[in-house]
Amino acid sequence: MVELGDKRILLGITGGIAAYKSAELLRELQRGGADIQVVMTESACQFITPVTMQALSGKPVYTGMWDNRVPNGMPHIELSRDRALIVVAPATADFMAKLVHGSADDLLSTLCLARECPLMVAPAMNRQMWEKPATQRNVSQLRKDGIVVLGPDAGDQACGEVGMGRMLEPADVAGEISAWFRPKLLSGIHVVVTAGPTFEPIDPVRGLTNRSSGKMGYAVTRAALEAGARVTLISGPVALEPPAAAQVIRVETARQMFEAANAQANGADIFIAVAAVADYYVANNGTQKIKKEGGVPTLELALNPDIVESIANRPNPPFCVGFAAESEQLEEHAEAKRRRKKLPLLAANLVQSAIEADDNELILFDDEGSHRLGRSSKLDQARQLIRHVAKLYRPPKTAVRA
Ligand code: C5P
Repeated sequence: MVELGDKRILLGITGGIAAYKSAELLRELQRGGADIQVVMTESACQFITPVTMQALSGKPVYTGMWDNRVPNGMPHIELSRDRALIVVAPATADFMAKLVHGSADDLLSTLCLARECPLMVAPAMNRQMWEKPATQRNVSQLRKDGIVVLGPDAGDQACGEVGMGRMLEPADVAGEISAWFRPKLLSGIHVVVTAGPTFEPIDPVRGLTNRSSGKMGYAVTRAALEAGARVTLISGPVALEPPAAAQVIRVETARQMFEAANAQANGADIFIAVAAVADYYVANNGTQKIKKEGGVPTLELALNPDIVESIANRPNPPFCVGFAAESEQLEEHAEAKRRRKKLPLLAANLVQSAIEADDNELILFDDEGSHRLGRSSKLDQARQLIRHVAKLYRPPKTAVRA
């Protein structure tokens, strides 16, 4: 649900084929209540006309530095002064490079450099352009500079190739903008999240692990950051880029995750255990590669510590949230697990398709009963979970001195 009140947003459009999506984005933002001023680069006008954007926004569209329709003749400063946000969608690879270098050779780049308000960009480009080290360096620099990068998405591209670089769908861009404006439910709160699988070595080249993409844990991290929390992400081995604002601790084994989680839980307010932790480690693991010629080895398994259970059973635990992936009798198993581990909240799903998928269907179990979230993207599920956590979380009462 896009709710933007009467937020005044400057929508910048740069020259990529995804510029056609900007018309729909403008509509989405307007439906949420926002007032939109459009600024386009010269190349953007090759893909979609200013007349279209003017008709939709009901306002003149600006494309050049020397436009005397702005009363004081300074559109490069004036147009952003009353705006709560600039969103550049689509943002080309070239435009992002310009932002990184503070280049200001047209109206939109100058507005971005002269702005006082926050800036968001929604990249859109061919997958090769996106993957190039130069673009990746630029994206990470933009994030370091406090610019919010929305997407991109993976999938079919206008050039006929398939891969990363598509602009997020307009509804998703609008959703992210709306979430960003929402009051911060967890500001001042320290959240610790575990994510991904653990890997338990058998020998230097082999190991035991669980199936887990880490997508859900990384989405929870992102949602907690959006809610204003300080987030520590303790991640097992996954092929995902963590959100730049999270403090990341990378671990491999369950026992390393246990150590890191216990250290971080000291003084943390909320602990969310999304990781698929291996229940056993190989007690007789070797430092040399096991040779096939030696016959079939016998693995001696030993039980790993239960991380979330150990933290939830502390004398003054943080608010603990567990996850449970069940293959049958979801409700019974999830609720039994919640009680056994003494968790105020547990999020459960059926395993069928959820592990590598981009969407999920969680049911939340708490003292009040169960709450079905309905199928949606993992990020959307994570946002709903974080809203539920914020509702249940009570800061500990500080001791009153006599
Ligand atoms: O018992 P089960 O593994 O199904 O419980 C899942 C929940 O417990 C998840 O939140 C998982 O992160 C957590 N867990 C843990 N340490 C373990 C095993 C599971 O924190 N050793």
